[in-house]
Amino acid sequence: MTRRGEVRVAMIGTRFMGKAHSNAWTQVAHFHGRPLKPVLQVLCGRDRAHAETLAERWGWQHVETDWRRVLERDDVDVVDICTPNNLHAEPAIAALKAGKHVLCEKPLARNVKECLPMVRAAAAAKGQLNFVCFNYRRVPALALARKLVLEERLGRIYHVRCVYLNSGAMNPDAPLRWRMQADLAGSGPNGDLNAHIVDAARFVSGLEIAEVAAAAETFIKERPIAGQPGRKGKVTVEDAILMLARFSNGALGSFEASRFGRGWRNKNAIEINGEKGALRFEFEDMNRLKYFDATAPNRLQGWTDILVTEPDHPYAGAYWPPGHVIGYEHTFINICADVLEALGQGPRAIAALQPNFADACQVQRVLDAALKAARSRRWERTGC
Ligand SMILES: NC(=O)c1ccc[n+]([C@@H]2O[C@H](COP(=O)([O-])OP(=O)(O)OC[C@H]3O[C@@H](n4cnc5c(N)ncnc54)[C@H](O)[C@@H]3O)[C@@H](O)[C@H]2O)c1
Repeated sequence: MTRRGEVRVAMIGTRFMGKAHSNAWTQVAHFHGRPLKPVLQVLCGRDRAHAETLAERWGWQHVETDWRRVLERDDVDVVDICTPNNLHAEPAIAALKAGKHVLCEKPLARNVKECLPMVRAAAAAKGQLNFVCFNYRRVPALALARKLVLEERLGRIYHVRCVYLNSGAMNPDAPLRWRMQADLAGSGPNGDLNAHIVDAARFVSGLEIAEVAAAAETFIKERPIAGQPGRKGKVTVEDAILMLARFSNGALGSFEASRFGRGWRNKNAIEINGEKGALRFEFEDMNRLKYFDATAPNRLQGWTDILVTEPDHPYAGAYWPPGHVIGYEHTFINICADVLEALGQGPRAIAALQPNFADACQVQRVLDAALKAARSRRWERTGC
């Protein structure tokens, strides 16, 4: 499938994630030595002029305006899906059927019902990679947090406390975007923000969420329609969701996801309290992990502030000398490095790469249960 040590990538979607992924595919070979090198083969966007501008800037070799055309091309090995949530399932399934490796942005789809055929298509694929871009797993500090849990430094976990706040929807005059429309997004901050912290909680703790209770609210019910002066459209998703969780081991968790978190731009935070230790992480200070070692003598106990830039920290060695910090874009570069590593190693590594569609479907089960619980005002089982 790959040619002369190259992996030819086609990316669908050209805006926020389009830029993040263009940068990652461009930078990965510079920082991470991998036997396979990516070729930015095809960029697909509906707006040809914009796609051509982005292609010129980042070095994409060809431009398409119809994603179906992309899948027909035999000069494409990997399809990277960076489109709104309503346009994940169809191209992902078609790409797998066409024999392509697939990377898909999160959330996997709008709901579990839509995820299941994606999971089946991935299982039926003939060894192609299926991967979901929960990029916060590739923050060195969170990857280190996972390692510390695997090393049993926390012991039994009692609490997982997660918050994801921004203030992106607080202006009532901001136009109705796809993220505010249930038919396009599936949900609001539930699929947008809660998805990330549910994934981070599962990733770091290694635990599944068994049941949830939740409250959701839409604060601004109508918004201006862009390009139609004087007209407003209905907001059909929640603006904020709060979720209580009971984990498979009996641990209790809380999750708050809101676009009305005044004061915060991208506060993605997780804290885990265990029998032997605790961990804290905040994305706005993403190079640091706070660790509390409760096995140390009492008189020495306190939060250790780890600057996660040492060569033996996950991913950090690929970049700068210790103390020279990295940023948001590196999480996507690290994804591309892991993808190229797996493709280079072959079937077992491809099958083992996480999070895959089946794993991301577990996140979706929690998200669907949260919306159900918000409506029913009862605890709901996730099925995880
Ligand atoms: N991993 C993360 O941290 C992260 C951050 C933001 C967004 N996302 C996810 O990435 C996806 C895209 O979000 P975004 O913020 O880039 O959205 P965006 O609105 O900035 O960009 C969406 C892109 O999809 C294109 N598109 C829409 N319909 C299309 C079609 N039929 N054919 C071709 N292109 C089409 C649009 O033209 C645009 O280029 C979403 O699923 C979102 O949840 C993930």
